[in-house]
Amino acid sequence: MTKVLDSVAKETRKIPPKYNFRKKAYIKNFAEYKKLYNESIKTPDKFWAKQAEQLDWFKKWNKVYYWNKSKLECKWFDGGKINISYNCLDRHLEKRGNKTALIWEANKGKGKKFTYKQLYKEVCKFANVLKKRGIKKGDRICFYMPMVPELAIGILACTRLGAIHSVVFGGFSPQSLKDRIDDSRAKILVTSNVNLHGDKVINMKDSVDKIINTCKSIKYVLVNKRLNIKTKMKRGRDLWLQDELKAKDIKDYCEAAKMNSEDISFILYTSGTTGKPKGVVHTTAGYLMYTYLTFKYVFDYHEEDIYWCTADIGWITGHSYIVYGPLANGATSVMFEGIPTYPNPDRFWQIVEKYKITIFYTAPTAIRALERYGDKWVKKHDLSSLRLLGSVGEPINPKAWLWYYNVVGNKKCPIVDTWWQTETGGIMVTPLPGAMDLKPGSTCFPFFGVKANVYREDGKPTRADEGGYIVVEQPWPGMLRTVYKNPERFRKTYFSNFKGGIYFAGDAAKKDKDGYFWIMGRIDDVVNVSGHRLGTSEIESALVSYKGVSESAVVPIPHPIKGNALYAFVTLKKGLKGSDELVQTLRKHVARSIGPIAKPDKIQFADSLPKTRSGKIMRRILKAIASGAEDVGNITTLANPEVVEVLKKERI
Ligand code: PRX
Repeated sequence: MTKVLDSVAKETRKIPPKYNFRKKAYIKNFAEYKKLYNESIKTPDKFWAKQAEQLDWFKKWNKVYYWNKSKLECKWFDGGKINISYNCLDRHLEKRGNKTALIWEANKGKGKKFTYKQLYKEVCKFANVLKKRGIKKGDRICFYMPMVPELAIGILACTRLGAIHSVVFGGFSPQSLKDRIDDSRAKILVTSNVNLHGDKVINMKDSVDKIINTCKSIKYVLVNKRLNIKTKMKRGRDLWLQDELKAKDIKDYCEAAKMNSEDISFILYTSGTTGKPKGVVHTTAGYLMYTYLTFKYVFDYHEEDIYWCTADIGWITGHSYIVYGPLANGATSVMFEGIPTYPNPDRFWQIVEKYKITIFYTAPTAIRALERYGDKWVKKHDLSSLRLLGSVGEPINPKAWLWYYNVVGNKKCPIVDTWWQTETGGIMVTPLPGAMDLKPGSTCFPFFGVKANVYREDGKPTRADEGGYIVVEQPWPGMLRTVYKNPERFRKTYFSNFKGGIYFAGDAAKKDKDGYFWIMGRIDDVVNVSGHRLGTSEIESALVSYKGVSESAVVPIPHPIKGNALYAFVTLKKGLKGSDELVQTLRKHVARSIGPIAKPDKIQFADSLPKTRSGKIMRRILKAIASGAEDVGNITTLANPEVVEVLKKERI
């Protein structure tokens, strides 16, 4: 097989959809895709009005789409009244009440299944608990949770009430949690006493306790009892979630709030180029419409499918494609608490076999990691239920693509390599699996309504195969509406690079001569490590916050499993010397400040860093040095060119 991989990696091979797949698909060929796509771009009002009929409205909209380019004001389905939780639950009760909505696979031991009826009742109860604790429409609720059903239930409860959820990935540090709680002024924090990860038991409540007394906005902490162990609880503030849900006055019915289309549904913080995370704001109708439709067409979802997305609900992928997209479609969605290598590196495949998963959506970093353990772990299991595979989060190199296709999918499952972002709400550039030939490593074509293009620096479209910036030329329903309480940052980050309301995604890309998109990675100071988007400036400020560190620069270096690893250059205050011990201390310090995912793999101490005459660190040069390049490119603009040779000599 290696031979095939090698040769294929060099050519642009096309893999057409199999007849059996195509026969059943919603969009059966390229001409059908193109026709609908053109309609969605030329007459978005008509296209989206038709699609919106598939949702349940309390009141229909007055205007499908409004866009004020100069004010950057975007509205979808304005005037409409709708509820996300109602569309994910209530409307299925009659037809799918006894169908499984959510399958929860525990890290170890027995999991749980919820039918639509059961899930609906749990969500109503959770919403009533929030109401009892004073939560009203527009209040913010923060979730810092492991992958347990209570997280999915909790966020659905928020959207039921019109409360705004802000989920913070459970792997983040207490400080990162605090920053996000404070920025959103959350009134309630929902957390868990422990987080079970493989054979590790992580005490989440202890992490919360490190900062919660300083979070002024928090009135209550709802604590999920994942394990029956001794947990410190502060009287009056900390409440066991299970006790709250069991209380006599908590009914299993709660009316869904009639939300305006443009009311905020949630905030999700993401890394940007400055140290401060951005609160990406999504609204109600457009987000629901977009996740609903992308889920249906990209995964070519049919009623009998069993769908599993391995992401964490702490990231946008989990929001859109574990919870909202699948449930809005009435699907059976699997969520998994554990890790792919526990108890063995066949855990994923065991789960696929156990639940007869038909659609499997994961990240390249997991694919690469599992590929390393060899085919035998895959082959131990009957994966014949699979009919479609998906990938998201970072570029998937053709070698990993082909392993996924050949070994996991047994050469019969199309792979949808989906490009999108926290900001886009849903999938943007992607294959439609029955409609087009796949090219390993390409994300293929824009989804309906997405006017994606690739621009040069000057805003002109690139030629075929020429790299540039990926942009979106008109709004789509799932687009972020602003950065929470920071409209200027919204404008600057996404709409200032090109004039005229052009959305700038911060990724490099190219289109080939057939019009296929190839995503080439981030162009700003944001790096992708194991599919997690991290701001290098955030890591740098964590390093500099350690006593004795005066300056630092963090750059990505290629890593076979993680995609990128982090390489940090650190300048110490005069008179101090670096040591192996300090390297370990700094790594731990970053893990504590941001989270273990942000730990630099390598740290090189440097007396000085290459800078321009205006004092800007030249990261391009550091990146080249860190990656082991001999030629680091043009250094004529450096104020201190002599440092380059020193840094090269001392590189790790
Ligand atoms: O660089 C792109 C990369 O992930 C970034 C978005 O990260 P985040 O907001 O955390 O959302 C991740 C899940 C949607 C993008 O700017 N990215 C995402 N999907 C792909 C990708 N890069 C290449 N190919 C993809 N399929």
